Amino acid sequence: MAKLTILEFPDPRLRTRAAPVVAVDDSIRTLIDDMLETMYAAPGIGLAATQVNVHKRVLVADVSQEQDRPLAFVNPEIIERDGKTEAEEGCLSVPGIFDKLTTRSARIRVRALDRNGKPFELDADGLLAVCIQHEMDHLEGKLFVDYLSELKRTRIRKKLEKERRERGSHPAARERSNAPVI
Ligand code: NI
Repeated sequence: MAKLTILEFPDPRLRTRAAPVVAVDDSIRTLIDDMLETMYAAPGIGLAATQVNVHKRVLVADVSQEQDRPLAFVNPEIIERDGKTEAEEGCLSVPGIFDKLTTRSARIRVRALDRNGKPFELDADGLLAVCIQHEMDHLEGKLFVDYLSELKRTRIRKKLEKERRERGSHPAARERSNAPVI
């Protein structure tokens, strides 16, 4: 397995719309394993292939306390959604930034292929529902900061650019939050 580099906002490659996976083969299974390793190391609870500059419809997640229940979704689709939830979100591609979104569905039903190419459906609520919606946005080239005001987004971009310039000399001081980084 290999740890992959995570693209960070405002990298234009994060705006790429991912293409459907045609065949779930060994290259996709290796991608899933590498994405899980990258996600656990970050650490985060979800990662979309877009974030590691692979523009295929693959995402991984693990919302378990022990971080021992990896999930992989190939070509995921939300086939049912219900209710609304408010949750604070962070993102591995927008490090150190957290904000509350009000746009997520509370409950979703997802259809996808597993790592062996077998179709499955999953009902998700709570953190997993938010996580899957967040990762599916990544596959569309969308970031959680897109739901915030233009003013906030500009401020976040400037903050991250400044941090990147200063990185190397000393680690950047980061906002602390218990919110999930997805
Ligand atoms: Ni994210």
